[in-house]
Amino acid sequence: VSDLDLPRLLPGELAGLSAYEPPGGDYPVRLDANENPYPPDPVILDKLARALESVQVNRYPDPASLDLRKAFAGHFGCPVERVMAGNGSDELIGFLTWTLRGCEAGGKPSVLIPIPTFGMYSIAASAAGYDVHEIPFDSNLEPDMEKVLEVVREKAPNIVFLSNPNNPTGSFFSKEQIRAILNATDGLVVVDEAYGDFSGEKSWICEVESGGNLAVLRTLSKVGAAALRSGFLVAGEELLDEVDKIRFPFNVNGYTQVAGEVFLSNFERLHSGINEIVDQRERLSREMAGLGFTVFPSRANFLFIKCGGREKALWRFLQDRGIMVRFLARLSVAGDALRVTVGTPGENSLLVEKSREFLAEGGKDA
Ligand SMILES: Cc1ncc(COP(=O)(O)O)c(C=O)c1O
Repeated sequence: VSDLDLPRLLPGELAGLSAYEPPGGDYPVRLDANENPYPPDPVILDKLARALESVQVNRYPDPASLDLRKAFAGHFGCPVERVMAGNGSDELIGFLTWTLRGCEAGGKPSVLIPIPTFGMYSIAASAAGYDVHEIPFDSNLEPDMEKVLEVVREKAPNIVFLSNPNNPTGSFFSKEQIRAILNATDGLVVVDEAYGDFSGEKSWICEVESGGNLAVLRTLSKVGAAALRSGFLVAGEELLDEVDKIRFPFNVNGYTQVAGEVFLSNFERLHSGINEIVDQRERLSREMAGLGFTVFPSRANFLFIKCGGREKALWRFLQDRGIMVRFLARLSVAGDALRVTVGTPGENSLLVEKSREFLAEGGKDA
């Protein structure tokens, strides 16, 4: 063999990127990944077991994931032709950026992303050679609509990604704000509703039209099925036909197809867990604010918390006591912050108790 000439083979875009590194270690309380803390109810578990047994492991699965897409379309009331299934919505973000990277000769495609937001948008876009226009939220963590609309008009981005509710801030784009962005561009506006089930608001899925510039992402990861890796893109048929050209055949494995179908066709059984998370979010928010932390209003299953420059110290303190939350360093407008996933009532109580201890001990690094 010869030496592999990586510098010659790699595109420049990869130089500025680094691989996703999940936190190492064993933490009894995981409040860092925005997962649902509850296992599915026994009826879903029973149906899952039977569905998984039905998979013929020696055969390739349905390349079009048709039954899974039908279950999704049935749950959300949209045409199955406008639904694509993905190996998590991460994969679909990747597919969209690869598909829509057209540009004029000598130019570059671009995306617009209000920040801070979910990291995959800029990773996927940068890897695909895009310019990334990042527009910081204002100091109340509300979208800076004036700036967003100005850059949309000036730069004509190929794609605008809106995480709604937004990860990690928990903020929410109003109907009027999203309409204004949709009307200001003929690029694609992707409303990512990964946390949509916690927002109490209607989905944008029913607004997706054939030929229109709105697309919606959903995932089963946050409502209790993160292990499945099951995400969905809802978009006009013409766009989906193009995305389908670069979608890998069999991108959704056979086990995920049948298991996802079970979750979607029994979705009402997830509601009590979702409602409990929303109630606990409000309780945790009150109690953490009661300790003197700044807790921003959240429409998702996590809270965005600032603690007067002691974020890293509190993060370490909690980690040393078996609780993992997410530390976010030097965010554009917000500086350091913590993102805390809402856990079970017991986990939330423990978090509050340990945070209180942190303050009682002087609020310094252990
Ligand atoms: C806003 C947002 N979109 C998409 C995803 C990815 O979800 P999935 O597990 O479906 O890939 C996440 C995961 O954290 C997210 O926060």
